[in-house]
Amino acid sequence: NSERSFIMVKPDGVHRGLVGDVIKRFEQRGYKLVGIKVLVPSRELASKHYAEHDGKPFFPKLVDFLSSGAVVACVFEGKDVVKTGRTMIGATNPLASAPGTLRADFAVDMGRNIIHGSDSVESAMREIALWFNADELATYATAT
Ligand code: CMP
Repeated sequence: NSERSFIMVKPDGVHRGLVGDVIKRFEQRGYKLVGIKVLVPSRELASKHYAEHDGKPFFPKLVDFLSSGAVVACVFEGKDVVKTGRTMIGATNPLASAPGTLRADFAVDMGRNIIHGSDSVESAMREIALWFNADELATYATAT
């Protein structure tokens, strides 16, 4: 079933020049990039994005970090992209991520794990609506 996921290269990933590597993996897997933007998230936007972690001890640092620099916010579309995207990204702690996943290949630190991906279709819809206006998402055909 075709669906959309919110995939974001976090400030550490942008700073390290990993934007192309992230996009390449999703594209070569067969996912379609239907939205993309570069921005420095406000603290308000970062807090809304991480609302489910509000109250946890690491929440303030999480918000500080996400709003500390530019991120690349993307929407990818395709078959089971939410679940498969999470598999491609790897476990939250890069030290526990399977070899070949983005986090295992590019990170060692839980707080600097380079990329975010929606954890469910419901989260994806919430996050896409938070980061994008409807007219910023394209509808187009690609080769099949
Ligand atoms: P992400 O998948 O973006 O979702 C929440 C983020 O919180 C997670 O990646 C980590 O970067 C960050 N984080 C920092 N510390 C912790 C922690 N102790 N437990 C879970 N997530 C953490």
